[in-house]
Amino acid sequence: PTRILAASYATSANVKKITVIGSGLMGAGIVQVAAQSGYHVNMVDLKEEFLAKGEKIITSSLKRVAKKKHGDDAAASKKFIDEVMSRISLSTDSNKAASESDLVVEAIVENIKTKQALFKALDEAAPKDAIFASNTSSLPIADIAAATNRKDKFAGLHFFNPVPQMKLVEIIRIPETSDEVFNTLSDVTKKMGKVPVACKDTPGFIVNRLLVPYMMESLRLVERGDASMQDVDTGMKLGAGYPMGPFELMDYVGLDTIKFITDGWYKSGKGLVGDKLVAPSPLLEKLVKEGHLGRKSGKGFYTYE
Ligand code: CAA
Ligand code: NAD
Repeated sequence: PTRILAASYATSANVKKITVIGSGLMGAGIVQVAAQSGYHVNMVDLKEEFLAKGEKIITSSLKRVAKKKHGDDAAASKKFIDEVMSRISLSTDSNKAASESDLVVEAIVENIKTKQALFKALDEAAPKDAIFASNTSSLPIADIAAATNRKDKFAGLHFFNPVPQMKLVEIIRIPETSDEVFNTLSDVTKKMGKVPVACKDTPGFIVNRLLVPYMMESLRLVERGDASMQDVDTGMKLGAGYPMGPFELMDYVGLDTIKFITDGWYKSGKGLVGDKLVAPSPLLEKLVKEGHLGRKSGKGFYTYE
């Protein structure tokens, strides 16, 4: 593949200001860990009310972090939270936010057209050296990057849920991603206290490529009547040391998200088209159809308060 050489490159030392687009579950988490690590961060969403939701996710998570750091010292906890929050700015104007950023991380809805439209506009608005990254779980990075003229400065930056707690970040290179940009992203994620791993632009990257078929196999096992979902969950926690069983984890991630990922791969995932590993599961289909999406809707495989 041709490697495009740009005139100048951002380096990790140059990344001072980060914009995160999308203030949902993942976006808010990324904003939080970036601000906790000393970065100035713009948090962007479509409406003020969505930003307020993101802010709430951050403050409640920061309270947990502060408690761990400062115990019952309320003054020290408040100082810590206030300092982190002071590095976060809120905006509903993605172009304006990106225009003053060195790195833009996208964590919006998992829809290729929406992501492409966003990046097309950002490509015009952001400084020419700014790095673009997508937190997509299942879409090809190359397809998203195709909307821009900066493929050498484009990569996947895949965080895990819950972002403040999960140490891993997958960095996905497309053939054009420059070494400098890859190294910068690697340094930035380390500065955020995370551990980066590299992967090519293949469906599911590393973790979801293994985790999602495992979840689907757990569904098949229960659908065949081989074991109950409670026993599968207990089995994987106590027999394999997983922190959550597969049904608990699917409820945590969101059943609509699991269905969206597997449907996409089954139809067009490179090397996975028609593969029985990611074939639709009647049990999953039924719950999603009924609006039982896991923790976020109060009910999935299990019921939540
Ligand atoms: N913010 C800050 N801290 C948090 C937190 C949050 N949102 N969530 C948990 N924590 C902290 C708690 O404060 C606690 O800290 P201490 O142990 O130091 O006191 C610690 O994490 C453990 O939390 P809990 O005791 O509440 O609960 P737990 O022990 O059951 O752990 C968990 C919760 C970290 C979520 C754990 O169950 C786990 O690791 N589950 C698996 C999560 C997983 O696999 N995520 C990946 C999903 S797939 C994905 O994200 C990719 C995709 O594209 C779909
Ligand atoms: P979410 O629904 O919680 O949040 C998405 C946010 O993006 C919403 O607040 C929405 O208003 C906002 N948004 C949508 N279009 C926008 C636009 N054009 N401009 C600005 N904001 C916009 O979703 P999430 O779970 O945080 O997922 C976000 C991304 O991260 C997706 O690509 C998803 O695949 C990926 N991801 C999710 C998980 C997970 O476990 N939920 C894990 C890793 C990666």
